[in-house]
Amino acid sequence: MEERTRYGVSAGQLVTLGLGHEGALQAFLAEFESNPDELHGYFCDRDAPIEKAVALLDAWSRGERLVENWVPMSTWFWELDGNLEGVITLRHRLTPALKQKGGHIGYSVAKSFRRRGVASGMLKAVLHQCQGLGIERALLTCSSDNQGSVRTIEKHGGLLDREERSKSSGVIQRWYWIDVNSH
Ligand SMILES: CC(C)(COP(=O)(O)OP(=O)(O)OC[C@H]1O[C@@H](n2cnc3c(N)ncnc32)[C@H](O)[C@@H]1OP(=O)(O)O)[C@@H](O)C(=O)NCCC(=O)NCCS
Repeated sequence: MEERTRYGVSAGQLVTLGLGHEGALQAFLAEFESNPDELHGYFCDRDAPIEKAVALLDAWSRGERLVENWVPMSTWFWELDGNLEGVITLRHRLTPALKQKGGHIGYSVAKSFRRRGVASGMLKAVLHQCQGLGIERALLTCSSDNQGSVRTIEKHGGLLDREERSKSSGVIQRWYWIDVNSH
């Protein structure tokens, strides 16, 4: 465990999906089969061939082939020892809908790799990517009872903007802003 984690951050790295990730992607997605609602940040059809997934993620990052009302978004995975352990999406700008739910950044970690600093590692790395896109403050939303996500966001300087019951889901939700320039 010590070699995998330094200071609460996994030793893995942020990667874009590649054709060589076919097996690792299948294994990653299989971890969400019993709890599909826990998969945030990956919007491809789960049965799509790897070539299609790679091409779509690349197109979306360039603002192409977007679904109506979507904004350009970049998707990365957290890779360590050949496994894809987590996924994270960065939306390049906010819409009224994203301000209400979703924010700039959404992420999920596969069950087998939780509590090893993967979410922390991904968020830290993606906050650096924000700077290149001109995002100065990143908005993150999460359920108030999602202790793992609350802790991850607060650890990275998330300042609570407000907490209220979501009109759409009825769940109590939090809105956090992270000052990107402090990272
Ligand atoms: C929430 C989630 C992303 C956390 O991922 P993770 O890789 O396990 O998180 P990390 O290991 O980086 O932990 C980050 C911090 O949160 C804490 N934490 C993680 N899971 C926790 C939990 N279930 N309860 C309490 N604290 C938790 C860790 O202890 C750590 O804090 P510390 O450094 O002070 O010890 C993961 O549980 C997940 O994918 N859940 C389902 C999808 C989801 O909720 N996505 C976020 C939507 S807003």
